[in-house]
Amino acid sequence: MLIYSISKTAKAETHTTRLILSLFITERPRVEMEVPMIETTAADRTPAPLAYTDEVRKATDALYPRVAGVIPAIEWPSIAPLIKAINDLKAERNAVILAHNYMTPDIFHCVADFVGDSLQLAIEAARSDADVIVQAGVHFMAETSKLMNPDKTVLIPDLRAGCSLAASITGRDVRLLRERYPGVPVVTYVNTSADVKAESDICCTSANAVEIVESLGVPRVLMIPDEYLARNVARQTDVEIIAWKGRCEVHERFSAAEIRAYREANPGVIVLAHPECPPEVIEEADFAGSTSAMIGYVKERTPRQVVMLTECSMSDNVAAELPQTEFIRPCNLCPHMKRITLANIYDCLLRMEHEVSVDPAIADRARGAVERMIAASAKTKAKGGLARARSAAA
Ligand code: 13P
Ligand code: SF4
Repeated sequence: MLIYSISKTAKAETHTTRLILSLFITERPRVEMEVPMIETTAADRTPAPLAYTDEVRKATDALYPRVAGVIPAIEWPSIAPLIKAINDLKAERNAVILAHNYMTPDIFHCVADFVGDSLQLAIEAARSDADVIVQAGVHFMAETSKLMNPDKTVLIPDLRAGCSLAASITGRDVRLLRERYPGVPVVTYVNTSADVKAESDICCTSANAVEIVESLGVPRVLMIPDEYLARNVARQTDVEIIAWKGRCEVHERFSAAEIRAYREANPGVIVLAHPECPPEVIEEADFAGSTSAMIGYVKERTPRQVVMLTECSMSDNVAAELPQTEFIRPCNLCPHMKRITLANIYDCLLRMEHEVSVDPAIADRARGAVERMIAASAKTKAKGGLARARSAAA
């Protein structure tokens, strides 16, 4: 595994980055997230409600306009019964659904109580007074919710919903880095396991990464595990960044050449990119920001045509609210996010299954790193803000 030291060149106006190869750690196989696999057979399952009765129609009619632009009317009767059943179960269990911006529109617009980017969901998790939190997102997000709510039940509809960034590094790797760079603080992207957070000084998200790095008031930080986020942050700060070589398997696939081709085919198109994209993509884009910052950009400026270089459901979710904007969709699917469906949200709430727990031996230290981020973010007024509350009830 390669570690890089990155710093902005002295001639800051060029905003180019200097990469110094500073350490080799022995190559090791990619770590897959260790999550228990729970197999169930069809016979174990309570059949999902499928009948589009008058009662279902009445309870869900007011929700359909939210997704009418992206879900054909002919499909609605097949999903409305599940939506009603989920919303009923939430009331029964005093549960809330925290949904990441990459959830499909049926989840995002019809059953979620709060929607947002990683920072917003972490803040919302800290404030929740529900008894049960269902994380419609990936495993590291559910772990963060559990860290912030140790006494609540946190469920994830599919325990296999991982993340290539979270799988790229372990707590042991961080301990080795600390030995190699004594005294250099570790800034850890929230897309990591609790084990890695526990070895970190502070967390960050794509919404506050530059502010968090600068909040430490030091000349050099380790920023793990996303190499591209680290390189993109290094372009915006004088703090020297030492990076790990983790990648998001969704965003690493976008290229600058692709952007140029979209611009040629669609003159005037606005290109937005997530900071997990390679630096040459960020350079070529009109705007880079967290998933919520990208949504905010489109809502405020309502461009005629836009490309969002990120996960596919983002464009669908914003398009549902902004019919006047045309979304060109060169998106990439996140296979982990797409494990979460209406059907498994229903199952997990019905059966109260797939509870997420964090080893008490690491929980306090991991929570500390998240709490320090939330506090620093509030001080610097990073664009994180609050998760948007959605009323799932009709
Ligand atoms: P955001 O924090 O911007 O929502 O990003 C999370 C993520 O996993 C992007 O791939
Ligand atoms: Fe992880 Fe990338 Fe999927 Fe986000 S989009 S959850 S960073 S693999």
